[in-house]
Amino acid sequence: MKRFAVIGAGTMGHGIAHAAALAGYDTTLTDARRDALVPALARVRANLDGGVQRGKLSAAEADAAFARLTTADSVAEATRDADVVVEAVVEDLNVKRELFTELDALVSDNTLLATNTSSLSVKAIAEVSAHPGRVLGLHFFNPVHIMKLVEVVTHDRTADDAVERARAIATAMDKVPIVVKDRPGFASSRLGVVLGLEAMRMVEEGVASAEDIDTAMQLGYGHPMGPLKVSDLVGLDVRLAIADYLERALGDARYAAPAILRRKVEAGDLGKKSGRGFYEWPTTSSSSTSTDT
Ligand code: NAI
Repeated sequence: MKRFAVIGAGTMGHGIAHAAALAGYDTTLTDARRDALVPALARVRANLDGGVQRGKLSAAEADAAFARLTTADSVAEATRDADVVVEAVVEDLNVKRELFTELDALVSDNTLLATNTSSLSVKAIAEVSAHPGRVLGLHFFNPVHIMKLVEVVTHDRTADDAVERARAIATAMDKVPIVVKDRPGFASSRLGVVLGLEAMRMVEEGVASAEDIDTAMQLGYGHPMGPLKVSDLVGLDVRLAIADYLERALGDARYAAPAILRRKVEAGDLGKKSGRGFYEWPTTSSSSTSTDT
């Protein structure tokens, strides 16, 4: 497998393209909005340069990776001769199904087709394909060039060799793949969200301060960051949307959003991006960590 195509050049797409090019794939990035491509390339360049400054890779490796990355004006051009296609377009089932219908007609039967969806049913995307066995989820985490986890999401018709190829691709991209069934929230959000919501309920009940609850998980359980700070970084509006979705999809009251979360979102206190959530975030503060949904 040599040729990698990424559809969607936003937050996730540019990072996936970065990791693919660095892994040695000839990578092509495209987006429905042509004006998204230049900034996406600039972000990849800046992140590669940041890696060089931090001693993670040599300047020659960064240059070689950047040279392997090109952009295309259409999905057809981007996916020509592609061995693997990863889609990172907007989180909308209809848009993704339309895209996979188009991809199915464009690429060879052997091309691995992956969606980076964080919440939609991979099966519902795969079923538009005449070859659903080669369709699966490759769920990367934000920021992709730093975060190590990839969930390989399988549905009941995913072929074994597609899973093995997906694992190999993730490993080549210096990620650690885990294989997860196509159930709402996969492994990551299903656990992470329930922990975050429970921590919010504890703040609501006055059990302890947000800082102390986070410290309990950091020092007592070895989490690198507490669940309330993670929620602030993800964005409380995003967390609320996922909680509502998981409550519906799993039919489980553990995912019912606490009133404190709804109140904060209604008040516009969305976490780091708005300056206030469970913490105050001065505009000068910066942090590089997972903001996965
Ligand atoms: P984004 O909004 O930053 O980027 C999406 C890009 O896709 C935009 O540039 C848009 O112009 C483009 N696009 C939309 N429809 C298109 C089409 N039909 N063909 C080509 N390009 C199209 O979104 P983001 O955050 O990168 O999310 C992308 C996917 O990744 C979503 O499915 C999301 O759920 C998933 N995801 C997001 C994470 C995050 O932390 N933002 C984490 C893990 C997964």
